[in-house]
Amino acid sequence: MPGTAAPWWRNAVIYQIYIRSFADGNGDGVGDIAGIRSRLPYLKSLGIDAIWINPWYKSPMADHGYDVADYRDIDPLFGTLAEAEQLIEEAHQHGIRVIPDIVPNHTSDQHAWFQAALAAGPGSAERDRYIFRPGRGPDGSKPPNDWVSAFGGPAWTRLPDGEWYLHLFAPQQPDLNWQNPDVHAEFESILRFWFRRGVDGFRIDVAHGLIKHPELPDLPPRRDPDSGQPWQHVDHPHWDRDEVHDIFRAWRKVADEFHGDRSFVAEAWTDTPERLAAYVRQDGLHTSFNFDFLMSSWHPQDLRAVIDNSLAMLGAVGAPATWVLSNHDVVRHPSRYGRKATKRWVANETYRPEGPLDLELGIRRARAAALLMLALPGGAYVYQGEELGLPEVEDLPEDVLQDPVWERSGHTERGRDGCRVPIPWSGQSTPYGFSPDGAPAAPWLPQPADWAEYSVEAQTGDEASMLELYRTALHLRREHPALGDGTLTWLDAPDGVLAFNRDPGFTCVVNLSTEAHPLPDHTAILLTSGPLDGGLLAPDQAAWLAV
Ligand code: GLC
Repeated sequence: MPGTAAPWWRNAVIYQIYIRSFADGNGDGVGDIAGIRSRLPYLKSLGIDAIWINPWYKSPMADHGYDVADYRDIDPLFGTLAEAEQLIEEAHQHGIRVIPDIVPNHTSDQHAWFQAALAAGPGSAERDRYIFRPGRGPDGSKPPNDWVSAFGGPAWTRLPDGEWYLHLFAPQQPDLNWQNPDVHAEFESILRFWFRRGVDGFRIDVAHGLIKHPELPDLPPRRDPDSGQPWQHVDHPHWDRDEVHDIFRAWRKVADEFHGDRSFVAEAWTDTPERLAAYVRQDGLHTSFNFDFLMSSWHPQDLRAVIDNSLAMLGAVGAPATWVLSNHDVVRHPSRYGRKATKRWVANETYRPEGPLDLELGIRRARAAALLMLALPGGAYVYQGEELGLPEVEDLPEDVLQDPVWERSGHTERGRDGCRVPIPWSGQSTPYGFSPDGAPAAPWLPQPADWAEYSVEAQTGDEASMLELYRTALHLRREHPALGDGTLTWLDAPDGVLAFNRDPGFTCVVNLSTEAHPLPDHTAILLTSGPLDGGLLAPDQAAWLAV
């Protein structure tokens, strides 16, 4: 049951702040802590429970903060440690919990440890904190194995002294060696550093990547040579290895040392919901993003299967589900849902939009998806700008692209900048209130000329807006005893319609068919994602009902 005894993270709606693009307090065109602090009243009125802030640590910004040079300090671009402490305190005063992002798979190449490793040379204790190896071939000029970087190109870079180091992401992000006890001790100490400052948990970056096969073998084939089918989970040499859970069991103990409910959420990309459930066992992490939901097509059977599998697998280990539609790595969902193939587009893999975009359709589906997501059992994530209905910015000029994916792919993948454009708050032209009036610098990515209509100011008070839909839904969700943690019961429904009950007295219905349908039995209509069509639920529409 929601509320009362359940820990907050079983129900929470967590708002994701991509700090560079949320609000710019000092006018340099980049979002910062001052900007977040000034927008806490907005977040409070939106009705969310917590904020997850993408990395704010000292960083050369090769991957916009996911290359951390000092985990115990804030990058000057974003503010100071003192401001971070103030933000945590003020957020708490607003009843909002704070979850920073922790990046344990790799550091920046500017981190003191990596610099020491470079200086100390082959065979040193300093190098053992990372993954250095001699190359293959007679002169060692071939990488130690065939692993590839998630951003394109080989996962290895050679140093002038002949050794190679591993980076599953950019070369500026060397992978740590989690077989080395120093690494364990350091991260547990970093967790304590921030827990002592009052943070309520962490989002764990690339949680599924920390452990590598000790022999660093070549990659397995992508498909089973006999059946031709894609591999389900195999003994992958660097993703989702079983030993990773030992690390998180230790982290859970660290979290439990502190008063109150602290919560971890894993960014773990796994092959199956069973594998995902392994991250959130009672003695492991609390929650994990449910990327299957994000990646599902806008199709009734697909969605229902994802929902059922997720609830079954997570329920079996006593963990709540979490639901997510968008984040800073994927194409914004109104743009995914507005195309013929609605299946996932993870921008750092292959983002090639197919066919024309019908944004009206995408928005209509996004509105229905919001009601679906917020009615499902468990917690949910809202990515900044999602509540404004922002589409992906697909036409950023090539010369402004900043995601390392763009360079690493040899300019074949545009990368993730299109979902990271600074969000519009007010006014008629850029910076749309993102930066203060008269700010000397333009936003770090250009905002589209037609974004005035998406601004918080333009939508506030407009009952038909996405913002007011989210606000109303989030407030209803807070008050309604059926919503949040718990279970659901599917109702019989016409083909293409998903309808489920939540106890007590709540039904959610989503029409994914191409025809209008009558609403299931109800005593009152609580909320609809759009105007009913002569009392019928139109295609791509959802409703919340009292029953
Ligand atoms: C995660 C982050 C992504 C980052 C990568 C490397 O996938 O979400 O933004 O680039 O890790 O740290």
